[in-house]
Amino acid sequence: MKIAMVGSGYVGLVSGACFADFGHDVICIDKDPAKIESLQAGIMPIYEPGLAELVTGNAKSGRLSFTTDLAAGIAGAAAIFIAVGTPSRRGDGHADLSYVYAVAEEVGQALKNDAVVVTKSTVPVGTGDEVERILTEAAPGVRFAVASNPEFLREGAAIADFKHPDRIVIGTEDEWARGILTEVYRPLFLNKAPILFTSRRTSELIKYAANAFLAVKITFINEMADLCEKVGADVQDVSRGIGMDGRIGSKFLHAGPGYGGSCFPKDTLALLKTAEDYEAPTRIVEAVVAVNDSRKRAMGRKVIEALGGTDAARGKKVAMLGLTFKPNTDDMRDSPSIAIALALADAGIEVAAYDPEGMALAGPLMPEVTMADSTYAAIEGADAVVIVTEWDAFRALDFDRIKRIAKAPVLVDLRNVYNPAEVRAKGFAYSSVGRP
Ligand code: UGA
Repeated sequence: MKIAMVGSGYVGLVSGACFADFGHDVICIDKDPAKIESLQAGIMPIYEPGLAELVTGNAKSGRLSFTTDLAAGIAGAAAIFIAVGTPSRRGDGHADLSYVYAVAEEVGQALKNDAVVVTKSTVPVGTGDEVERILTEAAPGVRFAVASNPEFLREGAAIADFKHPDRIVIGTEDEWARGILTEVYRPLFLNKAPILFTSRRTSELIKYAANAFLAVKITFINEMADLCEKVGADVQDVSRGIGMDGRIGSKFLHAGPGYGGSCFPKDTLALLKTAEDYEAPTRIVEAVVAVNDSRKRAMGRKVIEALGGTDAARGKKVAMLGLTFKPNTDDMRDSPSIAIALALADAGIEVAAYDPEGMALAGPLMPEVTMADSTYAAIEGADAVVIVTEWDAFRALDFDRIKRIAKAPVLVDLRNVYNPAEVRAKGFAYSSVGRP
């Protein structure tokens, strides 16, 4: 089956490459000629493990191609996916749907054959109705249906998530569209991935409800971590103790510096706006957004405490290990490291940082931070080392070497990577999140 993927960003590219790998004939379309040229040359616009191999392999076999020409790209496609960005609209947090609607308009004008138009972009409830209205006006006389098919891909694990999903959600009231999307996902269906068919509006909401619920889980355990610190309890055991209850589940209960990334911050805000518009407030999500926002800067204060408080910390040097919002990505969007670096700079602390993949994107976002060439170059002369992102490269630090090159053996572990007793036994002043 021919599939057109409009938008060759993170979601479009991963989904397109995986569909091609299943044997479909896929064309990825993007307005950005530089991006398309590099993709044709096998250069990825983002860092995602396994993606380059998947893209180049399928391109070589002729199942995956790239173009800037939308009209030519969608010709003959039975399914046209819209996978463009829906960033937070400046000023009010609503999802900015201008890219989605612009694509719908262009698709409508170019559509010559029957096709199902599928929104994969994360879009608020009712967006599919508007896409349908735009297409009806722009493409009279062509048979089409509009469906919703949200993605549940985690950055850094996107290919595995696509190929082994917990579920596939398809929102459409149209039997014909349902048949085509069943064909599109047949290889996964054969792999026993459950498909949930539902209404388009329900499908749109499922995406936001899923991300908001995960944000609730993280924020809940983060607040428990704060309480653990006050009462002398261990949040990792609290996570285990509650996570073994099948009703709660053990995932997404790792306490840390607060969630970031391109999805949770933006999607929780957009859900709040939808809830407000429909006068059905979601107070829990409101609290989660506020708690998570203040947590990031609070992590800066935690580092200042480890340096002996505000007065003692002024003029000292901190090494930040990890800048991206999580490991295995170069994505810096809403990363807690940004607020932490600012809090440290505001307190008169000099910051040097190292990240395995995020330095290029981080540099312009944190001009106050010196970017080091390696982990140990950042640590050289530091009064404290702070683990902000749990990259594997920071899981086996050479503590003897740190003691030799740092000014003081102080480690603040915001991801609870290390065992407190072991690090202290090596002579370090060690603090982490929610552990005695
Ligand atoms: C998230 C969802 O997990 C995906 O299912 C969804 O498809 C995606 O958003 C999206 O909407 O596109 P992602 O943002 O890539 O994926 O990253 P996550 O692994 O979910 O992590 C998000 C943030 O939460 C990170 O900052 C991470 O460090 C933090 N987190 C996660 C914790 O602090 N604790 C946890 O237990 C889990």
